Amino acid sequence: MDGLDALRAKYIAGVAAASDEAALEDIRLQAVGKKGEIALKMRELGQMSPEERQAVGPVLNALKDEINSALAGKKAALSDAALNERLRTEWLDVTLPGRPRPNGTIHPISQVTEEVTAIFADMGFAVAEGPQIESDWHNFDALNIPGHHPARGEMDTFYMHRAEGDERPPHVLRTHTSPVQIRSMLKQGAPIRVICPGRVYRADYDQTHTPMFHQVEGLAIDTDISMANLKWVLEEFVRAYFEVDNVELRFRASHFPFTEPSAEVDIRCSWAGGQLKVGEGDDWLEILGSGMVHPKVLQAGGIDPNKYQGFAFGMGIDRIAMLKYGIPDLRAFFDSDLRWLRNYGFASLDQPNLHGGLSR
Ligand code: PHE
Repeated sequence: MDGLDALRAKYIAGVAAASDEAALEDIRLQAVGKKGEIALKMRELGQMSPEERQAVGPVLNALKDEINSALAGKKAALSDAALNERLRTEWLDVTLPGRPRPNGTIHPISQVTEEVTAIFADMGFAVAEGPQIESDWHNFDALNIPGHHPARGEMDTFYMHRAEGDERPPHVLRTHTSPVQIRSMLKQGAPIRVICPGRVYRADYDQTHTPMFHQVEGLAIDTDISMANLKWVLEEFVRAYFEVDNVELRFRASHFPFTEPSAEVDIRCSWAGGQLKVGEGDDWLEILGSGMVHPKVLQAGGIDPNKYQGFAFGMGIDRIAMLKYGIPDLRAFFDSDLRWLRNYGFASLDQPNLHGGLSR
């Protein structure tokens, strides 16, 4: 049959010249596709004499095989080349230093939690954590708040659902971080020095209350801990946190079931010109509840109250964040409004520490 050599030359050259997979596919269809040139030639076999057919058939088949294998070879070469090109252009230098991303900011609650943690770490306090869905026992009973105690009602507790017929007391969304006192005592025994920051929940909502907010608990237990230690630790904290040298704290006698004696602590401040200044003026601002850990609470935590005493305090993180950074409405903390976050957020790569400054 005429022209087969020309056909071979044309397609072998075409395959070699194809520069990408699309071009190669075009050539495949033209040459060996169902309606391609080889198929047309195959069809001509039908009009040939048997001798001719015997001579031409195998030649045609061989040509088809030859083109097919050239196509396959070229296809592999093209995809290798494409991969090499990708590897060449998409490389990444993993040794480069990180670039600051000015778009995201650290939420004031996270920032203040870091600041508080840095200050107490410097005084030897470790961080302890507990679950937000807490057993009734850890949240209340172990803290000397028995079933009939009015504090249970006052706290506007969220109760979890129990299966029908399950008579056990329901779990609660913890109403304070104080259950982490119990967990820390049971876990590590005395002596203890921990702070426990975290989320707490109460069914309450207005300008200064949200159903979820944040507290940080403090707990120090040893053989010779007194109210004097509590006072010193809190004064150190307030000085470092508000970044002022002169602070004055006022301890007001109070009552909590889990401490005896108990005190609420206010700081001296001024609101002159609508701006809060800590350490001067004639106003007092309550920032936390505190006291000496009640013997029954030590007992519930497996600690011998005849040998050990301790102090505890609980402070509102959101509240001290509002005070330090002049944020007027608590609810805005949890609105996720980007404009608010950009205004009150902190640069993402600055870690608060006592030496570099807490709130650069
Ligand atoms: N748990 C108390 C509250 O939420 C605060 C507190 C903690 C008081 C520890 C005394 C000791 O109001």
